[in-house]
Amino acid sequence: MKGNIILTGDRPTGRLHIGHYVGSLKERVRMQNEGGYDAFYVMIADAQALTDNAENPEKIRNSVTEVLLDYLAVGLDPERVTFFVQSGVTALPELTAYYMNFVPYSRVVRNPTVKSEIATKDFGRSVPIGFINYPISQAADITAFKANLIPVGEDQEPMLEQTREIVRAFNRIYKKNVLVECEAVLPKNKASLRLPGTDGNEKMSKSIGNCIYLADDAATIKKKVNSIVTFPREINAPGILENNVLFIYLDAFCDDESFVKFYPEFENLDELKKAYTAGGIGDGRIKQFLNDVINDVLTPIRERREALAGDVDKLMDILSKGTKKANEVANATLAEVKDAMGINYFK
Ligand code: TRP
Repeated sequence: MKGNIILTGDRPTGRLHIGHYVGSLKERVRMQNEGGYDAFYVMIADAQALTDNAENPEKIRNSVTEVLLDYLAVGLDPERVTFFVQSGVTALPELTAYYMNFVPYSRVVRNPTVKSEIATKDFGRSVPIGFINYPISQAADITAFKANLIPVGEDQEPMLEQTREIVRAFNRIYKKNVLVECEAVLPKNKASLRLPGTDGNEKMSKSIGNCIYLADDAATIKKKVNSIVTFPREINAPGILENNVLFIYLDAFCDDESFVKFYPEFENLDELKKAYTAGGIGDGRIKQFLNDVINDVLTPIRERREALAGDVDKLMDILSKGTKKANEVANATLAEVKDAMGINYFK
């Protein structure tokens, strides 16, 4: 992994959930622990969060430390990862301003993730320009650090495509290889790519209210798992796996060890699936197993979160040190960009 620079981030609009965990956080921890990279940045994207929350700044402000706590709780380590706040790095909006000139209006409104967000967010006719523009600012976030590996959820792929287009345009026009192309790092497990909500909606999302949060206590997890709607059937009737949220979650969360611990009648998920589709296993038993598995993953995370939550000074110290370092790196890239563009008059 030498020569690699890893960067990723999340919008602080609330606590992170198990969709974030299997979709990206787990990959980040794996990459951190494998080591060998030159730098690893994790950004709390408060400026991007404000693009559709300008009237709710307290929500964003309060979520900054919540998201940092989630990061630390899953095992990201401030000794190896630089955590920073987007709004604290002033080179980012400056880079964004220059990059905007490489992107046609028709291109930003064609971005599939932006399109589906506009459809679900109920902006009506007044979509903020800042929101339409966020993929370009995301290109600034990534290129300011010359990051090439971006562990994110699958829905971020269009932002990375936009970033690559900007990088190619810039390097071609200014005839300098200043900016670096990036690629997504996605989980290999298919179920983890896009975890559905507990209500069966294809996306787990705060705004829909169908999430299991990393910070949820055991009783809440149990209630949420039990609320998952399954296909009604007689217990001996064959179970159906297709679009079965219980099994999608099991695909994402359980391993052979989970069976040793909580369901020793079976050795692995394939065996359980076979028995389930043959009939004789009720959904209540599957829910019990799923609850045990999720709780087993979340208990140490929740405990670490609780242990860290009291020390707000320490959290702020991590962010302020990281933001200082991020400024140094981003300012250096901005200087290179301005050199390449020939707008370095007073050097
Ligand atoms: N768009 C990401 C999200 O919605 C957050 C983000 C902002 C990001 N800038 C980034 C992710 C740069 C990866 C790289 O969660």
